[in-house]
Amino acid sequence: MDHADHPVALLPGDVRIPLLGFGTWQATGEAGFKAVLAALDAGYRHIDTATMYGNEEEIGRAVRESGLRREDIFITTKLPPERVGRERETIEESLRALGVDQVDLWLLHWPPADPGDMIPTWREMLAVRDTGLARAVGVSNFSTTQIDELIQATEENPAVNQIKWSPFLYDRQRHAEHRDRGVVLEGYSPFKTSDLSDPVLTRIAGAHNVSPAQVVLRWHIDHEIVVIPKSVTPDRIRANADVFGFSLTAEEMRDIDALGKG
Ligand SMILES: NC(=O)c1ccc[n+]([C@@H]2O[C@H](COP(=O)([O-])OP(=O)(O)OC[C@H]3O[C@@H](n4cnc5c(N)ncnc54)[C@H](OP(=O)(O)O)[C@@H]3O)[C@@H](O)[C@H]2O)c1
Repeated sequence: MDHADHPVALLPGDVRIPLLGFGTWQATGEAGFKAVLAALDAGYRHIDTATMYGNEEEIGRAVRESGLRREDIFITTKLPPERVGRERETIEESLRALGVDQVDLWLLHWPPADPGDMIPTWREMLAVRDTGLARAVGVSNFSTTQIDELIQATEENPAVNQIKWSPFLYDRQRHAEHRDRGVVLEGYSPFKTSDLSDPVLTRIAGAHNVSPAQVVLRWHIDHEIVVIPKSVTPDRIRANADVFGFSLTAEEMRDIDALGKG
């Protein structure tokens, strides 16, 4: 499948987020640079980073070196909540490090320690978006109650909530709560929270002649959940992007759903 045909979810402002992205936590320095370059070469068009990861410069370098057009790559970075009050300064640092004029998505990495900081930070992020430094803004590690507080205060739903997710954490109700609020669910740590030797995953992987890791990724995509696997291993980087040549049956989806809370 050509990367231009990769499935996307639609965010407010007509922003298209590819359902498959590349995670970069702990991918720093030369290894991080090489991993991102390999990922772009393997067809990923969505890179997930954060101020906290300390690798925005490497990512910017890989994006430039890839020869791809900036507008063909979706870049997410994240605001550490301890930067409350310095939101604009922090995204400006990210943009400088990445070497870009705007990011596609800017997330509040966690809810601030002081709940009183949550709404003012969200308002500031919306203002930053409105000046064009981020095309869309969202949150990470937020509960549905916290999302509702943001919406109630500003009438603006976060475009995305990035949370830990995998078949083993599957929670139908939580997914529906996001959908009902127009918040795209983005899962992180798909492998770290999975048992890749689970018999359900290995059976389904065998039926499609793919790996259990590829089944986990495809399961997210078939649920229209964004997934951002990380790897610094070239073979895995490629295999994790090669998930569009098969799809899961409704029965297989149900069997995988049943690994979680259902
Ligand atoms: N918002 C947040 O608070 C938050 C928190 C955590 C993560 N994230 C984001 O989500 C991304 C993904 O999560 P993650 O890095 O925690 O974990 P992950 O993607 O679930 O797992 C990464 C680990 O799995 C290994 N791996 C990769 N492909 C594999 C495969 N095909 N088979 C077996 N093992 C494989 C990697 O090893 P190698 O690298 O050695 O190949 C690495 O050790 C992060 O990189 C980050 O961008 C966000």
